Amino acid sequence: MSQLAWILNGPNLGRLGAREPEVYGSASLADLSAVCAQWGAELGLDVEVRQTDSEAELIGWLHQAADRSIPVVLNPAAFTHYSYGLRDAVAQVSLVIEVHLSNPAARDVFRHRSVISGVVLGTIAGFGFDSYYLALSELARLAAASS
Ligand code: DQA
Repeated sequence: MSQLAWILNGPNLGRLGAREPEVYGSASLADLSAVCAQWGAELGLDVEVRQTDSEAELIGWLHQAADRSIPVVLNPAAFTHYSYGLRDAVAQVSLVIEVHLSNPAARDVFRHRSVISGVVLGTIAGFGFDSYYLALSELARLAAASS
């Protein structure tokens, strides 16, 4: 049986393709979901991709992931830089990998700080959709190692 994994995306990531294509590329969230499902299948993961602009909804999903022991790949988007509520929710989930499409460290100063990074297993940033691939492959490796 495949290991369930959630890919949770924060605010404005539903606008991929239309939003600042010079930074985030021209592919949409639907494209990201499709390729992540395909990568998941190849890696033995049953991947579910979600996106919300709501901090409360994202926190609710993380509570469910904590209660159900679901590993999470998380792109917290702008919440990365200031949401202590999100950080406290992430801290309750045993396996979270933080991802970013762009490299926030190479962008505006306010993006240099992640309040999330201290409570995740690791962070992958700067590789576009491949950031998600790298996170999924590490997650699959960890799942295989612990089974
Ligand atoms: C982002 C980087 C954040 O700084 C930004 O607010 C986003 C997307 C990324 O994937 O590169 O919305 O998380």
